[in-house]
Formats: sequence, C-alpha cells, structure tokens
Amino acid sequence: MEAKAIAFESLREERLFPPPPAFAEQANLRDPEIYKKAAQDPAAFWAKLAEEELVWYRKWDKVLEWEPPFAKWFIGGKLNACYNCLDRHVQTWRRNKAAIIWEGEPGDTRVLTYQDLFREVNKLASALKKLGVVKGDRVAIYLPMIPEAVIAMLACARIGAVHSIVFGGFSAEALRDRINDAQAKILITADGYYRRGAVVEAKKNADQALKECPGVEKVIVVNRILKTQISMEPGRDLWWQEVMEGASADCPAEEMDAEDMLFILYTSGTTGKPKGVVHTTGGYLLGTHVTTKWVFDLKEEDLYWCTADIGWITGHSYVVYGPLSLGASVLMYEGTPDYPDRDRWWDLVEKYRVTVLYTAPTAIRTCMRWGTDYPARHDLSSLRLLGSVGEPINPEAWMWYYKYIGGERCPIADTWWQTETGMHIVTPLPGITALKPGSATFGFPGVEVDVVDDVGNSIKEGGGYLVIRGPWPSMLRTIYGDPQRYVDQYWSRFPGMYFTGDGAARDKDGYLWLLGRVDDVINVSGHRISTMEVESALVEHPAVAEAAAIGKAHEVKGQALAVFVTLKEGIKGTPELVQELKAHVAAKIGALARPDDIFFTAELPKTRSGKIMRRLLRDIAEGRALGDTTTLADPGVIAELKERYAEEERG
Ligand code: WT7
Repeated sequence: MEAKAIAFESLREERLFPPPPAFAEQANLRDPEIYKKAAQDPAAFWAKLAEEELVWYRKWDKVLEWEPPFAKWFIGGKLNACYNCLDRHVQTWRRNKAAIIWEGEPGDTRVLTYQDLFREVNKLASALKKLGVVKGDRVAIYLPMIPEAVIAMLACARIGAVHSIVFGGFSAEALRDRINDAQAKILITADGYYRRGAVVEAKKNADQALKECPGVEKVIVVNRILKTQISMEPGRDLWWQEVMEGASADCPAEEMDAEDMLFILYTSGTTGKPKGVVHTTGGYLLGTHVTTKWVFDLKEEDLYWCTADIGWITGHSYVVYGPLSLGASVLMYEGTPDYPDRDRWWDLVEKYRVTVLYTAPTAIRTCMRWGTDYPARHDLSSLRLLGSVGEPINPEAWMWYYKYIGGERCPIADTWWQTETGMHIVTPLPGITALKPGSATFGFPGVEVDVVDDVGNSIKEGGGYLVIRGPWPSMLRTIYGDPQRYVDQYWSRFPGMYFTGDGAARDKDGYLWLLGRVDDVINVSGHRISTMEVESALVEHPAVAEAAAIGKAHEVKGQALAVFVTLKEGIKGTPELVQELKAHVAAKIGALARPDDIFFTAELPKTRSGKIMRRLLRDIAEGRALGDTTTLADPGVIAELKERYAEEERG
C-alpha cells in the first residue's frame, strides 16, 4: 500500500437535515439510544435481533466465537436463507403479494408473487438436485437482470449449493477464471439480453469461457431473447424450460448450519487475481435483513427499487436477501437509464409508484448532466426515501438528488460498505440521524467503526484510515481457497482491526466522511477495479513492455482509468495502438475496465528499488504540482513525462 497523505479541508459543511417529523414518526427505528445499547454488548444485540427477525430450525449454542481474525456467528444454529426469503411468507397472506415486479428494457413486464417465486425456486432446486448438485457444490451464475437470476440464487440457497455470480459485463476470460477458481460444476446463463435496444449475446461469451472450464458439467440457458440462434452443445447445454418441465414444485429447504457457505462473490483486490469473498448463511442474512429494515425503513406497502445489478454485492444484499427476507415488493429493471430516453428511470418510478430508491452517485451525476427536464416530466411524489452507494457522493450531487428526485422531502441514506462487509457499515438511520450532504454519517449500531492514524491510534477529529474494530455478523469469513490472503489483506495493516482500504475523516460532530481508496484499487462508476489487474492484462499484449494504471478524478465516473505504457523496442505508439490496447483490456477483463486514456512513455517513474511511483503519475494525470520526488531514481523521467502529458491533453 502506498501511504497517501490524507488531508481533508471540507469538514466545514454546515448544512444539517434532521429527519422530517412525519418521516421520523413512522420510522421502523426511532430510538436514538440504539447506538449506546448496541455498544454495551454487540453480540447480545445481534443475538436478540437474530431471534426476533429470522426463522431458525434450531437455535444456536453460542452467539460468537472470535479467534482473530476468524469469526463464527450463531454456532450450532440451523436455518435456510431461502426459507427465510420465501417459505415463511407463503405461509401467510403475503403469498399473494408481489415479490418481484420486473420490467425488461423493451418494455415487457412480469410480476412474480411470493407464491410464484416459491414455486419456480422449488422447481429449479429440484432440477439442480436431479443434475447431481449437492450441498456445498458451487454453481456459477452469469445472467442479466431477469427474474431467473433471483430464482437461480434462491434455488442454490434452498439446497445448500453455493452460488457464485459473475456480472454479465465481465469478459469471457474473467468468467472463465471465476468459474475455475470456484470449481463450479454448473453454469446458469442466458442466450442474451437487451442493452440500449441491441441484443448482447451472453451465451457466446459463456461458450468462449467454457472452452477452458473442464469442471463444468451442465449449462442451463434461459431463453430471454425472442428470436435467437445460439449454439447448444448436446449433452452439456440445457434450456431452462426443459430443465423446469416436470421438475417437482416441492423441494424442502435444506437445514444449513449458520456458518455454512451461502455464496462466493469475486471482487478486485490489490493484486492481479480477483478475490473470492466468502459469505455464510446466518450472519449474512441477519445483517442484510436488519439493515434493510432500519436503513431503508421498509414497510409492508413499500415498492422498493435498488438499481444495482445482481452481479454486484449490492444486488445480492439489497435486491435479493435483505428485501425478500423482509417480505417486501422489489422492482427489477433490465436495462439502462437512457433507453428509449433519458427519463426511463423516472418513468418507472411514476409508473410503479416506487417509494424507496437506492442508486449510485455516478448515476446521479449522469442525470445531473442530462438536466432537470427529465425528472420534471414525471410525478415522483411516491418517493419517500432515497439511498446512495458505491463511492463518495459529493455534496453537489447530494443536493441535486435531494431536490430534484426527492422533492426536498426524502431523507438520503448514503451507505458506505463493501463486498466484504456484506451489509451497510457506515450509514444514517433515516428516522434518527440528522444528515450532512456528502457524509455517510455514523457506524451502524453494533459495529465498531473507527478512523485511525498510520499506527492505529483512534483519531477523534481529522483524517486517517477507516477500520472496523472486531467482528460483525455479515463480515466475510475468508477468501475462497486462500485464507492467508484474507489475513494479510484485511487484518495485518492494523493488528486486531479490519482494514477497509478506504481513507476517512471524522469532523467535530463525529460525522464520518469517506475519502476514497488508499490502496491500488480504483473506483470507476462505483465499480472496483484493481490497477494491478489492468496492468497485467496490458503486459500480456505483445506490444507492451510495461504498464502503470492509475485512477484519475472524473466528473461523472468519480474516477477514470488512465494508463501509462512503455512499448517494446521498435514499436511505435500510434493512435491505432491506443484503440487496440483499450479493446484488449476490455476483452481481458470486461468493458468496465476499458481505460479512458492510454499514454505512451519511454520510461516510467520508479523508485531506486524499482517500484513504479503511481502517486506521481496521479499528480501528472490530474494536472497537479508534483509531490515529493526525492525517492525517484531518475528525476529527468518525470519532468519530461509531465511536459508531454500536458501537451497531449492540450492538443
Ligand atoms: C468500495 C467497496 C458496497 C457496494 C458497492 C461497492 C466504495 C462504497 C461508498 C459510499 C464512499 C463508498 C469504498 C469501498 N464505497 N460505498 N457510500 N461512500 N465510498 O462495493 O465493489 O465492494 O466496493 O466502494 O471505496 O471500499 P465494492
């Protein structure tokens, strides 16, 4: 980790937005003492909630076993996540309630009641069993935002199979690596899906990946596209409808141990190899359930919409497990916000009367750029609460969201968390917390969040590193197949504390302000990209000798990817090569990692020990005065680079 000085000047935000009285009165959580009560005995606090909020086949013998940095929650407890999301609801009047209200990009719609979802999940669960899937097996899912994605997840959870979802935007190679790392034996995918009116052929990518996935025995393919010609490999590939036909609609949920694995989700780390973050059943479900209830304040009659894709942790926790375990109605939308026009989201809010909306700052900034006419065309008065996630929300975007989407009536929950944390960690409680635009406010009750200095001392006011002291129920348990990496990555920087990788500051009132990553991970449009992963993709290209990737501030995306490349002897850095290298990275990792800028240079700035000084490259890319260059092996390199970069930006 490159230690980055954290300075924070804008702690002078004076605007304060207390909960509107009408909101506070009806909030699910109204007791400001909750923080104090939870802190007295966090394990007891969580245990009480686990008993009240979830259905268990067998109660745990012990709440927590903490052998740092390995935690076990609800030891001996038995439950099933799918049972908690479906069975318990279909036993009540809720069986006729909409679980998923879905709209495809072309405008086609589907509504699945809890009973519908229950039946489909049971059938797929039976079918998976018939295909030989047993408890503990891994099932890879590479699906777009269609109800089958939720059905597939819950069917896995029902029989105790571990799902590993790969975001549909990832490339064939990225899919291949994730399938192989998890040793998945089944892949569930679709023929394709709709994106801005065009068809994206998911199965083609899957086929490409499967050429090098010897462990995959069967592929289940959802028929999403109406007229489609795709290749199906006999004996391996099965259409979803065939698999479901005749499958029993009665597949009892498996009794899972609280610590049994629920899913693996890959995320980028500081090396070239993605990490398989492991979440288990009891603690994860409790964390997502309770945060959904308190942070999104969900009520029986709400229509809740989280715009995240199922391929990210936000989709796992806050499209599926949290809201469905609460018995909520969830809106799901397949496509982009600007198809057929830039008011599609606001059209959806109006059409379905969405009450709670959860989205990302990058989307808000994009809408800001499009202008207020688009939301103004629609009646957004059904909204009562807004959420934000993925990256710091700048006060300007916060105010725009508050005013033009929330009509100055909706509290905004800026929720800081990670794939690893499973649930919200720093977040307002909308019935209690007075908001400051741009601050994620306070640690969730029962989680000890802190800001520390370089050696781990707590900082009462000022900037430092965000850590979590001690375990919380929905924390990752390990990195799949690599427990040492789990220890090194999260628990070694500050002994005894979970290191988030984020910088943060605390203001005089104790509010937390997130300052972005302090490691070699960048955040493009709320998606985590490892600079190492991009660099290793680039050096695999025959023209490239060396590459250094950095994040550069970007108005809409938060950060954009800029790459400095040295070419092999005799190769010329042409504009065509720039395009080729961008396409190369997109093919290796996925379109989300396509660099914005590629800059050729004869040399990269390095320390005397040969480490690339990315900090200096960031200074150059963002047009800043150069920081400390005393450790540079050859100061001439950087001066020349800076000059040429500035020239290129101008010209
Ligand atoms: C990283 C985690 C958690 C779901 C989406 C991303 C950044 C996330 C916020 C926020 C400031 C945020 C952090 C974090 N981040 N939410 N509200 N304010 N930064 O999940 O891919 O695991 O990325 O996203 O840098 O470490 P992820």
